Amino acid sequence: MADFDLKQVTKAVSNTRFGGKITHFATIDSTNIRAVEAANSSALDGTVYVADEQTAGRGRGGHSWHSVAGNGLYVSAIVRPEMGLSEALWLSLATGIAAQRATVETTGVQADIRWPNDLLIGKKKCGGILVETGSHPGTPARLRYAVIGIGINVNHDAFPDELSTVATSLRIESGSVASREALLANLLLALDAEITLLESELHDAPRGTPLLERFAAASSWAVGMRVRVDEDGGYTGETVGLNRKGFLQVAGDDGVLHTVLSGGVRPE
Ligand code: BTN
Repeated sequence: MADFDLKQVTKAVSNTRFGGKITHFATIDSTNIRAVEAANSSALDGTVYVADEQTAGRGRGGHSWHSVAGNGLYVSAIVRPEMGLSEALWLSLATGIAAQRATVETTGVQADIRWPNDLLIGKKKCGGILVETGSHPGTPARLRYAVIGIGINVNHDAFPDELSTVATSLRIESGSVASREALLANLLLALDAEITLLESELHDAPRGTPLLERFAAASSWAVGMRVRVDEDGGYTGETVGLNRKGFLQVAGDDGVLHTVLSGGVRPE
């Protein structure tokens, strides 16, 4: 495995909130675990941890994240935007858009986004995002930090049997090895831009197309997808867009308009 060239990334993102704040680890239990610890003490907005390998990578819903040495991008960014805790879903959606853009810019592979933020190629997953938050005391709760954890399968040429039907990598899809440094640089540039746009929107001075519209344009799952949802005892239906807070709406076959709260959305 080639050494990770941190200087290349540091230089590329020097004009963003992440400039001068990236730490690289050869191996770590989980970049999210360490970033949450750091965020709970005094780590600055824009602090980034990236690792070649995770021994206890965390996924959404209590799952683990396959994190073999050298093939993946395992990164966590601490951000402290001025927003309510209840608005943290916006960060998840914005990060999915940033990861999609970085992936296509770096490798030419166009991934889809399954709400809220899985990166898919065809039916297989090539990336996932786990946002963990902390809040200031008080009501309504304000966000103290968000740790944005992003895992992208970059140069894997195969997966263990239990993952091979559901996981893919950028290398498998494109046929070419990709630079993890270039991908991380593009990811942090895109994430910085997305968070800046989001902040402008939250402060009622939007600088571009609203996030919900951009998400709907980026994700074929937002509208018109037949899905099965593992919530509320499980139901099937068709996606009909996101509500004002960013939650996916599904017109259920049971006649009910469902709001998906935590994911578990699958093709029917
Ligand atoms: C998912 O289940 O889809 C989310 C996966 C998130 C994995 C990333 S890898 C970097 C960061 N550190 C972790 O332990 N998890 C996230």
